[in-house]
Amino acid sequence: MSRPEGGWEGGEYERLAAVALPAVARYVEESQRGTRPVSAPPPLEELIERLDLRRLARDGGLDGEDFAAWLERVLEHSVRLHHPAEIAHQVAAPDVPSAIADLVQGAINQPMSIYEMGPAAHAMERVVVEWMTEQIGWPEGGGGVLTHGGSLANLTALLAARAAAAPDAWTEGVDGTLAVLAPPSTHYSVRRSVAMLGLGERAVVDLDVDEDERIVPAGLGDALHRCREAGRRPMALVAAACATSTGLHDDLEAIGAFCREHGIWFHVDAAHGAPALLSPAHRHLLRGIEHADSVIWDAHKMMRTSAIAAAVLVREEWRLEAAFKQKAAYLIYEEPGETASSLLERQVECTKAALGARIFMNLAFRGPDGIGRYVAEQYEKTLRFWELIEAREGFECLSRPESNILCFRYGRDGQLQVRLREHLLRERRFHLSSTEVNGERWLRMSVMAPATTEETVEELLDAIEEAAG
Ligand SMILES: Cc1ncc(COP(=O)(O)O)c(C=O)c1O
Repeated sequence: MSRPEGGWEGGEYERLAAVALPAVARYVEESQRGTRPVSAPPPLEELIERLDLRRLARDGGLDGEDFAAWLERVLEHSVRLHHPAEIAHQVAAPDVPSAIADLVQGAINQPMSIYEMGPAAHAMERVVVEWMTEQIGWPEGGGGVLTHGGSLANLTALLAARAAAAPDAWTEGVDGTLAVLAPPSTHYSVRRSVAMLGLGERAVVDLDVDEDERIVPAGLGDALHRCREAGRRPMALVAAACATSTGLHDDLEAIGAFCREHGIWFHVDAAHGAPALLSPAHRHLLRGIEHADSVIWDAHKMMRTSAIAAAVLVREEWRLEAAFKQKAAYLIYEEPGETASSLLERQVECTKAALGARIFMNLAFRGPDGIGRYVAEQYEKTLRFWELIEAREGFECLSRPESNILCFRYGRDGQLQVRLREHLLRERRFHLSSTEVNGERWLRMSVMAPATTEETVEELLDAIEEAAG
């Protein structure tokens, strides 16, 4: 039978894949060996020009002939996440099984929010979420859902907290009396969620933090008092494991006990740090996480999956469904069942990518132990980098790292740190990030690639000294 007009042409798929697969494999290997410079983007308009994007979008015309050359140009302008000197952001250097999951899903396309729309992918999400709740150590009854990112996971968790504190808010809206207690260093998506949930950003009551921006547990009573004085009642308290800027962990044990004592919903943003639960030597950093009412966990940070695959997890599964009170009659079954399983009642998204497959493939091939070893190696390496940096004259670190995020600086001038970062990137030798902690500017590294070594950091410090003159 001939192929229908517009139908899938297997031959084309295989021809394009035969170009793309070796090109991508070569790109990742070169990145990993550090034989190519790190990526430094040209101005946006110039890049649009170089890749001929406008013409191709308007007129089409890319074919098998020029695909190879065009793809090379795309790769040349992509961030080399496996590169030893790519130490800027908390973005995973994906592992092979998860990359293959994306390849497969790209063709079979299983938007699996309801079981019948992607049975295998749906089952993988269910199992991954179940596995995550087990790692947290909650008693029976926990559950969750995967979301397109930690920001959406934070929003979903706070929506569940809102439903617990004000069950009528879904139909009646909020009345201006709710508050969320969080440190000023909390990820911006928390404040944004509070505003989106209709509480208004002013509903965030700042918690006291120490010089490393960690929540001071002894200051919690005072914050609660301030909250009540302002005529508000706490809807949730947010702690970090670990904080985006510093990579440091809040004291979940003490904060959890405070929340229990005062009946406050305890939300732990473990977007970055949750996979440390898989490393026996680092689990202790999350001690107390089991006291949380909700937790978020990004797999696309430390579980080596491509962006994006996050989870929102709750101690009591029903709390998530209580958060969403809508019915979409054409999709949602009246009664859940073996083949009527649906995630729509507990998530913002309708159509969803097969997020569970990305996570599942890494788990299935590497095992939780393998992922735990990766986390341990990145964390331990970063501790050695801290020693190296501290030993160099003129350099200092913010604090001893607890994860693979490390803040450091050369001298104390904030502007100098900004100039140094830009200079290194212009030279295409190192890609670092930068952050403010307690009003002071620091250089910041997120050590995501297995290829980053002590030699990389020695060279980085030499380059900084040279650039600073
Ligand atoms: C602690 C923390 N929470 C939430 C987020 C947001 O996650 P996402 O980028 O997946 O939306 C981040 C991202 O860096 C983070 O570090």
